[in-house]
Amino acid sequence: MTGQLRIITGIAAIVLVAGAAAAFAVAWRPQIAAIAPPRADTFDPDVVKRGRELAAIGNCNTCHTVQGGATYAGGLPVPTPFGIVFSSNITPDAETGIGRWPEEAFVRAMRSGVARDGQHLYPTFPYDHFTNVSDADDRALYAFLMTRQPVHASPPANQLSFPLNYRPLIAGWKLLYLRSGDAPQDSAKGAEWNRGAYLVEGLAHCGACHTPRNALGAERLNAQFAGGEVDNWHAYALNDTSHAPVRWTADALYAYLRHGWQADHGTARGPMAEVVGNLATVPDSDVRAIAVYMADISGTPAPDRKRPADVVAQSSSDDAAQTHAAGAAIYAAACGSCHEGSRTLPYGGVNLALSTAIASPDPRNLLNIVLSGVGAVEGERSPIMPGFASSIDDTQMVALTAYLRERFGKRPAWANLDKAVRDARAVQATSLAARDTPAESRQRGKP
Ligand code: HEC
Ligand code: HEC
Ligand code: HEC
Repeated sequence: MTGQLRIITGIAAIVLVAGAAAAFAVAWRPQIAAIAPPRADTFDPDVVKRGRELAAIGNCNTCHTVQGGATYAGGLPVPTPFGIVFSSNITPDAETGIGRWPEEAFVRAMRSGVARDGQHLYPTFPYDHFTNVSDADDRALYAFLMTRQPVHASPPANQLSFPLNYRPLIAGWKLLYLRSGDAPQDSAKGAEWNRGAYLVEGLAHCGACHTPRNALGAERLNAQFAGGEVDNWHAYALNDTSHAPVRWTADALYAYLRHGWQADHGTARGPMAEVVGNLATVPDSDVRAIAVYMADISGTPAPDRKRPADVVAQSSSDDAAQTHAAGAAIYAAACGSCHEGSRTLPYGGVNLALSTAIASPDPRNLLNIVLSGVGAVEGERSPIMPGFASSIDDTQMVALTAYLRERFGKRPAWANLDKAVRDARAVQATSLAARDTPAESRQRGKP
């Protein structure tokens, strides 16, 4: 669907939703009285510590912090198909943050997306997942946030046009899509699986990126984990439609989520690198639980995905070098030395027959990787790959990626590869330029 069409369908649907909202008259929510900001030493340090881990699982920092700005002070522009919503200041500042919010108001925001003053919040704040967070966990999150350094900062005004800037309409969206108690529980599957379900469907909101959305920006629950969009990256399918050449097991998922790298699958990049960076600070048992649940979500793979990694790595197509001679030559000169097995971390890349980026129906992640490379994670012995934006031009890039797709992906050629290359290059140039602009005007996309 083109962007234009999507916005028009969106507006038509919003009008319908407005009708629904009016009919049910649910738009009004009471204000909750302000309190004097509680002193930090009134909170139990153990609860605060637990809150810190929970905030990492919920990625509160990635959306509520502008690159180079104060943590949790908000102001990050979050693009949506309908315009830009800026994240709020969630430090305990009395005027511009949540310093005067009682715990009850915080819990209401997490459960039903309503601010202390009674205004409806946009679901860019993923309360459709956070609604499942337990009382004890909300209490710990509240204690953690209320003991941060208060920062005086107000986010810029949202850039949404009428009628989308009219917050009471959000009540209609909630009527259609906000469901609580969604986390599946199954006593037959054991404690670890159930803990994983609670985290994945709730606080960790994995589906916010990995599930496709409908015209109104709600997750399509009949296509849960079938692959979604974030920040010009494709968040791969994680259910039984996954394109990962080797099936994801609980152990592989655990290693990938814990260290950001796994030998049969490669590295987490882009928005997933931030998720993994946060998970590095979370107790082992929680990461393990997430992995156990996600392994179950990935379902029964097709027969050709039951093969072990060493067999997959041997199985590249030899005809590709004839059909794509130019691409084959670039690969041999620029890529093969690192990607063919002998080099170890941090310079050795996976055999590209194992790469989901090449097997995926969407070439964007591969293009992002080749243009920008893979940076080292601070303090870790993590992989490093140089970016090729300045050494490979668009024509060469098309030749190279078409070759990789046939040789290692062994799947039908990507359509409109020329355009995908131009788009990825434009995005890369913009993000480079953003590095030189002041923090306040920087953008990072989120669903
Ligand atoms: C995907 C991005 C995203 C993530 C992740 C996220 N938020 Fe937010 N949050 C937002 C946006 C955007 C808003 C502003 C919504 C609006 O103005 O309607 C917001 C608003 C809020 C508000 C309301 C504040 C106010 O003054 O009205 C609270 C409280 C909040 N978030 C807490 C959290 C917590 C706690 C976490 C982590 C558990 C979190 N958020 C994670 C994007 C996010
Ligand atoms: C902010 C968006 C976002 C969130 C939240 C998110 N992911 Fe991801 N995820 C991505 C993107 C984008 C990629 C592709 C990254 C790449 O190409 O390296 C990805 C890749 C992955 C992969 C690799 C799949 C493959 O076949 O290679 C796994 C596994 C994964 N995510 C699991 C999770 C889990 C589990 C959670 C919740 C704890 C989660 N993700 C939350 C955006 C997200
Ligand atoms: C200096 C060594 C080096 C060179 C040269 C290099 N890479 Fe990489 N590459 C890496 C490392 C290290 C990683 C991260 C580990 C991983 O994911 O394989 C990586 C990751 C990748 C990935 C992601 C694999 C996945 O799904 O996780 C792709 C695709 C890729 N490289 C393609 C290329 C291409 C195409 C070229 C040539 C234009 C190239 N690389 C050149 C080292 C290199």
